Amino acid sequence: MESILSRLWRFALRLIFLLAMCSFSDCYDPLDPNGNITVTFDILQWTVDGYVARVTIQNFYQYRHVDKPGWQLGWTWTRNEVIWSMSGAFATQQGNCSAFKSQIPHSCKKDPVMLDLMPEALPQNRSEDCCRGGILAAWAINPFNSFSSFEITVGNLEGNYSAYKPANLTLMAPGPGYTCGPVVDTDPTVWSVIGGKREEQVFRTWKSTCTYSSYIANKNPVCCVSLSTFYNPTITSCPQCSCGCRTADQSRTSCIRQDYPSSQTDSLSNFDRVQCTDHMCPLQVHWHVKNNYMDHWRVKLTISNHNYGKNYSDWNVLVQHPGFSQSATTYSFNSTLLPTVGFTDEVALFWGLEYYNNELLQADEKQQGSVTTEILLSKDSKAFTLRNGWTLPRRIYFNGENCEMPLPDTFPMLPNAMQTEALPLVNKFQLSEDHNSVFPKGVPWVRYHGIYKDLNINIIWPGKDTVLGVDSVGTVSASLVTYASIQALQPDLIINAGTAGGFKAKGACIGDVFLASDIAFHDRRIPIPVFDLYGVGLRQAFSTPNILKELNLKVGKLSTGDSLDMSPQDEASITANDATIKDMEGAAVAYVTNLLKVPAIFVKAVTDIVDGDKPTSEEFLQNLAAVTAALDQAVTQVVDFLNGKSLSEL
Ligand SMILES: *[C@@H]1O[C@H](CO)[C@@H](O)[C@H](O)[C@H]1NC(C)=O
Ligand SMILES: *[C@@H]1O[C@H](CO)[C@@H](O)[C@H](O)[C@H]1NC(C)=O
Ligand SMILES: *[C@@H]1O[C@H](CO)[C@@H](O)[C@H](O)[C@H]1NC(C)=O
Ligand SMILES: *[C@@H]1O[C@H](CO)[C@@H](O)[C@H](O)[C@H]1NC(C)=O
Ligand SMILES: *[C@@H]1O[C@H](CO)[C@@H](O)[C@H](O)[C@H]1NC(C)=O
Ligand SMILES: *[C@@H]1O[C@H](CO)[C@@H](O)[C@H](O)[C@H]1NC(C)=O
Ligand SMILES: *[C@@H]1O[C@H](CO)[C@@H](O)[C@H](O)[C@H]1NC(C)=O
Repeated sequence: MESILSRLWRFALRLIFLLAMCSFSDCYDPLDPNGNITVTFDILQWTVDGYVARVTIQNFYQYRHVDKPGWQLGWTWTRNEVIWSMSGAFATQQGNCSAFKSQIPHSCKKDPVMLDLMPEALPQNRSEDCCRGGILAAWAINPFNSFSSFEITVGNLEGNYSAYKPANLTLMAPGPGYTCGPVVDTDPTVWSVIGGKREEQVFRTWKSTCTYSSYIANKNPVCCVSLSTFYNPTITSCPQCSCGCRTADQSRTSCIRQDYPSSQTDSLSNFDRVQCTDHMCPLQVHWHVKNNYMDHWRVKLTISNHNYGKNYSDWNVLVQHPGFSQSATTYSFNSTLLPTVGFTDEVALFWGLEYYNNELLQADEKQQGSVTTEILLSKDSKAFTLRNGWTLPRRIYFNGENCEMPLPDTFPMLPNAMQTEALPLVNKFQLSEDHNSVFPKGVPWVRYHGIYKDLNINIIWPGKDTVLGVDSVGTVSASLVTYASIQALQPDLIINAGTAGGFKAKGACIGDVFLASDIAFHDRRIPIPVFDLYGVGLRQAFSTPNILKELNLKVGKLSTGDSLDMSPQDEASITANDATIKDMEGAAVAYVTNLLKVPAIFVKAVTDIVDGDKPTSEEFLQNLAAVTAALDQAVTQVVDFLNGKSLSEL
């Protein structure tokens, strides 16, 4: 209840804020501060009762286009003007021309509305730069198709008529959303002839600037963003009710969505049928952080159309992300960077490839329409991080409409390795946390315990560092926990389970689960006779031939060090240890268990390949979830095998 209320409250807050922005600064878009559609009337010549004008509609919006079925331009005459003739467009209504006897005007309406001609219009109806079916491309994508012109011959004026401008321009593109300013006199349009040596100009130029407001066009948002990453299995879906709430009837697959700008004029089309989702957005942009390489990272971008009755041609998607300051390769979309003023992040614009995916098709009963690409970005090592959602987008627009972003507290987070390893086992064996700790006061070590079958099981997790709050990895913590646990619990057998790096040269693959035969250190170099052997600290694991036979695990030697990376000296020691796998705790556990004469076995699952070509820390995070599942399965099998047996039967 509380969460619904706070969500509603947020919605209300945002609406108030943005409406206020609209009334103060004409719906200023910080990513496209100069965007507008400018309508220009160039008077080419005066006639006995009026003038001939060329009307140009220029779309200066970087990433907002005028889509099918195209623009409709209207205005109101201030005198008794009629349009004698027209080329490159036509007036939708002729109006009452009964006052004219010899020559019949094209339109006598007081408030005519003009429509563009189709590209296949007859030559006698055409004018220069005309006939684009009302479609204006976005300025940043295709400036050559971002404008359209037509010519009108205006007449039926008397006296000193040269200053009678049309008034109250209206622009539907194709639905509502645009508000046009007053028609003002400006410097006459100039163009050059004779190879730039002579300039010619029109008699007079009138201009009106039309700006877009999403809140006039749509009552509700129309687009939302969902997120996922390789390092966390959680998918962050679009915020619930981003674009409206679905009806109570959850069983339906299709919903009616109100207030979406509609292309047709019939009343039914004011309702759009979309797939029923929890977000109810007709459009969804999904950002998946897919891979992390040494110098690059890769994103998969998918745009889904949940409409049952609307295709989007020449769609575009804008993404604000600091990562675009580095070079990026986009595989299946066209793209460009937009200039940004007063922004530290870069802004990239994506659109479909012609004849391939520039049409985002409607959904059908089986699936939504979608287009997708992968983007390979170079890393700026100073900025790049997997933490704090840095790899996730800051802002996304579809066709210039803001897409609702999930809140940062729902972003997929970097997992916490030790907890990811321990918790599934805790659940599996139905253990409970020990609140009257058997350990000294103040230590972060956590003990889960319980009875599983005939076994008394304790899982000890070293917990979080009390100073820095990160997992207490490494040998110091491992040896202390092992010592304290043996003292407190007197176990018959210790299983050191965890993840490890593997060497592919020795036959390790990601997801392999190893039973270690020998355990040694690789970062305790003491080059003095006998001390060198003490440093290596080689110990044998408790021998369990029957577990090996029964469970079909791999066997290898384990080498332990306190660093996640591997220096050349470490590498030499690891080679000398003949190790197949490498971890950060094993040899410390082996030292203590050997000291206190408690049998110990070591079950280690490979999350990353040390001698591969990917950076270890990144690969580790990428594979953690899947490999943990393999580890848990192996540990469960070992525990099931132990049940009802004595040590000598292992
Ligand atoms: C309309 O856009 C153009 C191009 O960005 C810009 O030069 C012009 O100043 C804008 N007009 C208004 C009134 O903002
Ligand atoms: C233009 O609109 C304004 C405000 O609606 C109105 O007062 C004015 O009469 C209109 N002008 C013409 C020529 O219709
Ligand atoms: C058409 O305009 C004339 C005057 O120009 C007027 O007498 C006539 O009633 C109008 N017809 C209609 C149908 O409005
Ligand atoms: C095209 O021009 C012809 C005559 O030149 C005219 O009859 C026709 O109405 C025009 N069509 C349009 C769509 O303007
Ligand atoms: C016609 O109108 C313009 C501006 O409205 C004015 O400057 C000019 O003097 C007028 N000409 C005559 C002959 O009235
Ligand atoms: C969308 O495109 C598909 C395939 O071209 C077509 O079958 C469908 O009728 C189109 N839908 C609309 C609303 O135009
Ligand atoms: C990418 O966009 C540019 C500019 O609109 C265009 O010239 C080019 O042909 C497009 N490339 C493809 C493959 O569609």
